Amino acid sequence: MTVQRKKISLIGAGNIGGALAHMIALRKLSDVVLLDISNGIPQGKALDIAESSPIDGFNVNITGTNRYEDIKNSDAIVITAGITRKSGMSRDDLLQTNAKVVKEVGENIKKYSPNAFVIVVTNPLDAMVSVVHKFSNLPTNMIVGMAGVLDSARFRYFLARELNISVEDVSAFVLGGHGDTMVPLIRCASIAGIPLTQVIDMGLITQEKVDEIVKRTRNGGKEIVDLLQSGSAYYAPASSVICMLESYLRDERRILTCAAHLNGEYGVEDLFIGVPVVIGKNGIEKVLEVKMDNSEQEMFDKSVNAVKELKISLSL
Ligand code: NAI
Ligand code: 2OP
Repeated sequence: MTVQRKKISLIGAGNIGGALAHMIALRKLSDVVLLDISNGIPQGKALDIAESSPIDGFNVNITGTNRYEDIKNSDAIVITAGITRKSGMSRDDLLQTNAKVVKEVGENIKKYSPNAFVIVVTNPLDAMVSVVHKFSNLPTNMIVGMAGVLDSARFRYFLARELNISVEDVSAFVLGGHGDTMVPLIRCASIAGIPLTQVIDMGLITQEKVDEIVKRTRNGGKEIVDLLQSGSAYYAPASSVICMLESYLRDERRILTCAAHLNGEYGVEDLFIGVPVVIGKNGIEKVLEVKMDNSEQEMFDKSVNAVKELKISLSL
C-alpha cells in the first residue's frame, strides 16, 4: 500500500511563508511547496529549512519555486503573497495592489489545484478572500481567511498577562473584519469557564483595563508594525495558520474564528467576514451564529459595512 503524503503549497515566501514552511516541517505535517515571484527567495528558504532536517529529524520534502505548475494537486494552500503595511499605512491602503496579486493566485489555484483547502492571509484580509474566491471558483466551504485566530490570540494573551494567569485558561474571541472595526466579544470571554464579567465583579481586573485591552487588540497589528519599522507580524500569524491547517488535515473540528462566507447567517448575504466556524475534513463544516447584544450588533454591522465598502471599491 502506498502512503500518500500530504502537500501544502505556500504562495508567498516572505516572512509568514518562510515561518510557515519551517513550522510545517518541524511538525512533519506535510510536504511543502514554497512559491514566490521573487527568484531565489523560495529556493533559498526551502534549502535552508531542508538543511535543518538532519538536526530536527524531519523527512518532509520542501521545494522552492517560481512556477505555478508545482502547486498541482495540493491538499491545502496558504496565500501570503503581496505587500505588507508600512508604518503609517492602513490595511486598506494595500487594497488595489494586493487585489491584483491574489487575483492571479486565484486563477492559478483554479487551474492547478481546484480541490485544495485554501487559507488567505494577504491583507486587507476579508476583501482578499472575496477576490480569491471569485477567481478560483472554489466552493465556499473550501476557502477561508485567517485573522480571527490571530486577533483572538492577541486578546487572550493581553488578558492572561493582566490577570497573571496561564494563556491556556483564557478563552476569548474576536468577530468581524480584520481591521479597526473588529469586535472583541467581552461578554463571551472567560477564564477556566468563569465569565470575564464575573472576573471583573470579583475584582481581579477592572472594566477600564478590559477596555484598554480591547483597544490594544484592535491595534495589535499596528503595534507590531510600529515596533518593527519594516514589515509586519509573522510568528503569531504563522501559528494561527498552522492551527487552521491542522484542524483541516487532521479533521480536528476545532472552533476557530475565520473569515468565512456568510449566506444569510448573521443576516448577512454573500460576504466573507470573521465568525466562529468548525473546521474539519470538509473545510468549513459549520458557521456558528453567536447571539449579540445591541452594542455588539452595532459594532458588527459597522464592520460588515466596512468590508462591503472594500468589496464595492474592487467592483466585486
Ligand atoms: P512579506 O513581504 O514578507 O512577503 C510577501 C511575499 O509575497 C514576498 O516574498 C513577495 O515577493 C511575494 N509576492 C509579491 N507579489 C507576488 C506575486 N504576484 N506572486 C507571488 N508572490 C508575490 O510579507 P509577510 O509578512 O509574509 O505578509 C504577507 C501578507 O500577509 C501581507 O499582505 C500582510 O499584510 C498580511 N498579513 C495578514 C495578517 C492577517 O491576520 N490576515 C497578519 C499579518 C500579515
Ligand atoms: C496584523 O494584524 C498586519 O494584519 C496584520 O498583524
